[in-house]
Amino acid sequence: MQQKWDERYKESAFAFGKEPNLFFKEWLPQFKPGAILMPADGEGRNGVFAARLGWDVTSFDFSIEGQSKALQLAAENQVTLNYIVGDLDDLSFEKEAFDAIGLIYAHFAAEKKSVFHRKLNDYVKPGGIIILEAFSKKHLYFNGLDPKVGGPKELDMLYSTEEIRTDFPNYEMLMLAEEEIQLNEGKYHIGKGAVIRFVGRKIS
Ligand SMILES: C[S@@+](CC[C@H](N)C(=O)[O-])C[C@H]1O[C@@H](n2cnc3c(N)ncnc32)[C@H](O)[C@@H]1O
Repeated sequence: MQQKWDERYKESAFAFGKEPNLFFKEWLPQFKPGAILMPADGEGRNGVFAARLGWDVTSFDFSIEGQSKALQLAAENQVTLNYIVGDLDDLSFEKEAFDAIGLIYAHFAAEKKSVFHRKLNDYVKPGGIIILEAFSKKHLYFNGLDPKVGGPKELDMLYSTEEIRTDFPNYEMLMLAEEEIQLNEGKYHIGKGAVIRFVGRKIS
């Protein structure tokens, strides 16, 4: 899996473009900047966007090629990222270290997903936020129609609103919906897809 991402990020073009994800771009500016964790930040388009808004960004991904592209993008934008290369299993921060977490197309093996969500929950301060966009289970249909839209082909790696409610029961739901959207992100997210969109504020 890691090799797949390294191969993709070795290409000179940015796999999902240099612009931030539109949902992230719409929601992040609504909150006061602080410390933000960006797990699975890939080539850093979203981490760099956050840094440009004044957030103190920690990016995390297991692709060293992703790190290299992200640092390039950060330099182009005259911002800095603290970009850590590692597997999510190794993620370790102080409890309540972050004001926000951005999870944009962070798709993991089914057995890891909920464990990982619980871990992330510990890192968010009370009053802090999570912004998530990821393909929903319905997306398998759209991927079958046109694989150019991208996304995992394993049902269990895809998201549902029920999973979000179960994994983040201690969050005020500022937004939780399954939506069908038109994606136009770089070379690997092109076409119609089904996504889960979630913005939550940690209550306790
Ligand atoms: C679809 S890409 C999304 C990249 C970025 N969030 C974006 O929207 O441009 C998924 C990313 O998850 C990373 N990833 C997947 N499994 C991981 C794991 N177990 N540990 C760390 N990173 C992982 C991949 O390297 C890849 O960069």
